[in-house]
Amino acid sequence: MEKTTQFLDLGKQPLANGFLSMQDIDTEYFYNLKYQYDPETSLVSMIDKPAPELMFNDSYPYHSSGSRTMNLHFNRTANSIKSNYNPKTILEIGTNDGAFIRHFNKENSLCVEPCSNFAANTSNDGYSTYNEFWSLELAQKIREEHGFIDVIYAANTMCHMHDLDSALEGIHTLLGPKSVFIFEDPSLLSMLQRCSYDQLYDEHPYIFSVTALDKILRKHHMIITNVESLPVHGGSNRIYAQTTHSPIAIHQSMGYHNHLFMERQLGVDNFETYELFSEAVKRSKGFLLGMLVAFNGNVISYGATSKSTTIFNYCGIGPETIKYIIDTTKDKQCLLSPGAHIPILSPEEGLSNLSDFDAIFLGAWNFIKEILQKERRLKNKKWITHVPFPRFL
Ligand code: TMP
Repeated sequence: MEKTTQFLDLGKQPLANGFLSMQDIDTEYFYNLKYQYDPETSLVSMIDKPAPELMFNDSYPYHSSGSRTMNLHFNRTANSIKSNYNPKTILEIGTNDGAFIRHFNKENSLCVEPCSNFAANTSNDGYSTYNEFWSLELAQKIREEHGFIDVIYAANTMCHMHDLDSALEGIHTLLGPKSVFIFEDPSLLSMLQRCSYDQLYDEHPYIFSVTALDKILRKHHMIITNVESLPVHGGSNRIYAQTTHSPIAIHQSMGYHNHLFMERQLGVDNFETYELFSEAVKRSKGFLLGMLVAFNGNVISYGATSKSTTIFNYCGIGPETIKYIIDTTKDKQCLLSPGAHIPILSPEEGLSNLSDFDAIFLGAWNFIKEILQKERRLKNKKWITHVPFPRFL
């Protein structure tokens, strides 16, 4: 049997959302970001995972409702769940600031959120909230208190979980014969196709293919019934699964079969694909650096994203190359970006004098449509992206 093998080393990295002030620089946490492929399970996973408590604590800065794109996405998702399943009970794992769960009645909803700053939001608004990490023990407690749950939903949360086996066992504990488990996470296929290696950071110990999820869910008595491609977060998959312990006939959709087929075509179950990806990442770094350095420090970045933490630290890009980053999130403004220590300004401040810079690196490339639509005043600047390869827009 082939062994799990490392294919990518993105070097010394800080926590992707570890925005910091000057006085915290000396104690900043770093780890080595490496990924491996397991030919038996087809899982792509991080090798040395930083402890979850380091990232998901009382000052986690990422707000799910921080963009129009994600608010629209959760609104549409909630409407589709209501019309397709009309759930009497819904559980969201990783409720963040409540962008999704607020579309459901408080009486029918349960929230699980380890970050206490966000758990306080939904709890204060009357939603029953467990301020804990998802675990088998918590699932058993919920089962005792509420029985089976009609719909379990998790967005960008399953790929955060270190102990996937225990997490999935917990989910299965709560699935009755008619329940559905719906979850969405960044897609491995999209990452390989777009060379978007910035999907890889501390909060993503896994980047899932449908091929790997198919195997691991079956191991936990669940079966995928449908897969949908989503444009959010740079290309995600939404998975619909149900328990195999159900007398109801199981139908697996064309979406499911098509995704498995596309992944096989692209070689997600072939180690060589990952070696080629790793080579493409190295080339991407060289080209991006060349483009940015040519602007002699007259470049800013749009969006202090977790993704750009990986890029700046892997490529060795600091304030000498990127003057500052602009971001609408108040909790990130006036701080420095993790590892690279590039100052973060509000858009009002950073865009007050447009002659300050010639080019803009699109750190928040996954919001390209929303950003270009609202930033017409920046249309004469050079916009740079690294996806699917370093280029001007
Ligand atoms: P993420 O890629 O880690 O999800 O972070 C996206 C960041 O981009 C978040 O901090 C909000 C920021 N952002 C802006 O500053 N302006 C915008 O127009 C959009 C869409 C996002």
